[in-house]
Amino acid sequence: MSNSIPFISDQQVSEALDYRSVAAVLDEAFASLAAAGAAVHRRQRTDCRHLRLSTMGAVWADRGVGGVKVYPTVRGQFSFSILLFDLASNRPLALLDGNELTRLRTAAITTLVASKAAAQRPRKLALFGTGLQGRAQADALCGWFGFEEIALVDPAGDAAWGQALAVRTGSRVAFTTAEAAVRDADIVVTATRSSTPVFDGAWLAPGAFVSAIGTSTPKGRELDDATMDRAGRIIVEWKPQSLEEAGEVVLWPGQSANSPFIDLPQLYAGEAPWRPAGPAITVFKSVGIGLADVAVAQLAVSRILHAGAQP
Ligand SMILES: NC(=O)c1ccc[n+]([C@@H]2O[C@H](COP(=O)([O-])OP(=O)(O)OC[C@H]3O[C@@H](n4cnc5c(N)ncnc54)[C@H](O)[C@@H]3O)[C@@H](O)[C@H]2O)c1
Repeated sequence: MSNSIPFISDQQVSEALDYRSVAAVLDEAFASLAAAGAAVHRRQRTDCRHLRLSTMGAVWADRGVGGVKVYPTVRGQFSFSILLFDLASNRPLALLDGNELTRLRTAAITTLVASKAAAQRPRKLALFGTGLQGRAQADALCGWFGFEEIALVDPAGDAAWGQALAVRTGSRVAFTTAEAAVRDADIVVTATRSSTPVFDGAWLAPGAFVSAIGTSTPKGRELDDATMDRAGRIIVEWKPQSLEEAGEVVLWPGQSANSPFIDLPQLYAGEAPWRPAGPAITVFKSVGIGLADVAVAQLAVSRILHAGAQP
């Protein structure tokens, strides 16, 4: 028997997983976190000159696995890997490429939270940023909701991709200005690398759901003070990490002890309803936490290794 650790490539992850199954495993993992069947640690970032290494990890005791995602940042680009352990045998289960897994889980978490906390029949999606993450956000959301209209905002937008999205989804799709996109949008997603706000929160329609996934450092933010001031609820993945990392929170002068922050473990524990009554705006600020990576890695390992697809 070989003692080498199985390796799972991005391509295998891409072939084995889809947004719905990723959203489903995230749903289970956050329910575990709420019930102390999982635990997560804050991201650790280590900087030396212009180089950075980041680690984030979790134990999912309910599934008997634990692991860590590790990635360098070089010239602004990430290269994700995940090491997953079986905690019953105390042996490594697999080393996974983490790029595809990160793309899938980041899109799936917006869809999961929107499916519970956004208006039930959203008509219009506004998407800022149509790069790697933005495209995944659109695909995952369109697999769940049937939008009549998708408004795209990106100075480097690719018209051919927009047209292909329209064909795939049957929605009206167009690149437009930030204001035209946000006004009357039910769901607004920001998936850019911008470190300054990408729209004016005064434009948001009552009851809008905003998911900001695009920055996870305290020095940058995609959402402005008006959006944060207007939010009746600000959902984050996990307060101990999110409130320290999110520039939307750290740079917001209106932040106070009464700010309406709530995290996913609180919502899964039933401390408050997912959809409060009334026309307030809901913000979901995602920075990405290690539990999501461990949960999706566990799903990938169970599908790929148990399916015998491992080379
Ligand atoms: N929350 C998470 O868990 C998580 C996970 C992975 C990546 N991210 C973040 O997602 C962001 C996007 O990553 P990516 O790989 O898709 O980047 P990318 O470079 O592929 O795409 C970013 C896109 O945003 C566009 N853009 C820039 N400024 C804009 C603006 N003001 N308005 C509209 N569009 C604008 C760019 O033209 C580009 O097309 C990064 O900041 C990354 O750190 C977050």
